[in-house]
Amino acid sequence: MKTDLTGSTALVTGATAGIGRATALALAEHGAAIVVHGRDPERGADAVARIDALGGTARFESADLSDPADVRRLAAAVGEIDILVNNAGIFRFGSTVDTDDAAFDAHVDINLRAPFLLVQALVPAMAARGRGAVVNVSSGAAAVPGRGSGIYGASKAALESLTRVWAAEFGPAGVRVNTVAAGPTRTEGTAVFGDQFEAVGQLTALRRLVDADEIANTIVFLASPAAGYVNGTVLTALGGTPAVG
Ligand SMILES: NC(=O)c1ccc[n+]([C@@H]2O[C@H](COP(=O)([O-])OP(=O)(O)OC[C@H]3O[C@@H](n4cnc5c(N)ncnc54)[C@H](OP(=O)(O)O)[C@@H]3O)[C@@H](O)[C@H]2O)c1
Repeated sequence: MKTDLTGSTALVTGATAGIGRATALALAEHGAAIVVHGRDPERGADAVARIDALGGTARFESADLSDPADVRRLAAAVGEIDILVNNAGIFRFGSTVDTDDAAFDAHVDINLRAPFLLVQALVPAMAARGRGAVVNVSSGAAAVPGRGSGIYGASKAALESLTRVWAAEFGPAGVRVNTVAAGPTRTEGTAVFGDQFEAVGQLTALRRLVDADEIANTIVFLASPAAGYVNGTVLTALGGTPAVG
């Protein structure tokens, strides 16, 4: 399989924790130079040090993705890249009645507008060079109704819709755009759910949670030449749906 990414540069948003950090490390192991994005400089330095320890190359860029000006500043600071992983995201669960304007806006701003602005700013240069790959990170909540995951799932469903649009817009220029829909993953972000989260893993056909490394591997595949004819798809790494009855 052609998964060698030597000579490529990848921006991974939200690479200071969880799925993003695992993805940054996995891309680095496959030879890509990494721009580690996050907000927290200490977590950023830790991720960069982990990549250095693997013999990889990385630097940290901080930006608050809820602020469109900061997203555009990030894109300008990053410059030319070959791989964009739109991973950073928030998930704050609450019923529709309990979702206030701030929670609604935060999901849309961070999970949807930020990837949109990064694609807008960074992908035209990939297209001009005739190659590149974008991988977005979605969730089973995009397709499966969950009590309390309304606006979160809606923000991810919109990202999946944009995946198909971007694949059509940039595919003719040689840039592929895909999404991984991640199952319930052990990360810093989900650690707050404690033992309750284990039960979510039992709802999958594999009857377990997924490790961030396993999601990272699907992202590396989609970003790599091994997925050269995969474009506009949502790869579900959801552990399968249990049979009824
Ligand atoms: N974990 C799961 O079960 C699961 C399942 C399906 C999909 N996903 C998706 O996978 C992605 C990563 O999830 P995770 O569980 O790995 O998350 P996590 O452990 O909570 O880490 C979130 C990352 O996003 C960054 N981030 C959050 N808000 C940001 C903001 N306003 N500006 C800039 N960076 C921000 C954080 O940066 P700081 O270090 O600066 O805070 C951190 O690097 C998300 O899009 C999530 O929706 C997760």
